[in-house]
Amino acid sequence: MTFYTRDGTPMDVDAPNGLSIMEIAHKHGLTADIEGVCGGSLACATCHVWVHPDWVNRAMPDDGEVSEDEEDMLDLAFDLKKTSRLSCQIIMRDDLDGLIVAVPGANVDWI
Ligand code: FES
Repeated sequence: MTFYTRDGTPMDVDAPNGLSIMEIAHKHGLTADIEGVCGGSLACATCHVWVHPDWVNRAMPDDGEVSEDEEDMLDLAFDLKKTSRLSCQIIMRDDLDGLIVAVPGANVDWI
């Protein structure tokens, strides 16, 4: 998968299935941009990311809806976009191979 960092630089990383995007970000040193203060328990919005529009539908939960709890937390997130998600709620799996997200505030032209 690819993370776009704040300056718009793409960073391709290994993304094992079963880990959340937040955990993958931490594994690769992106802790300053994707803090994940609550450890993935839906009690903060510090793991907020912008999902690339081409990936937003595929990154949805199985029922195709972002949970109400995630929506509530996203309301507290800074720089919310249409494709914003909490990265602790996206779990890597085969069909997300190639997923593209950006840290909020990233200088990207696709959001
Ligand atoms: S890490 Fe706190 S909501 Fe995702």
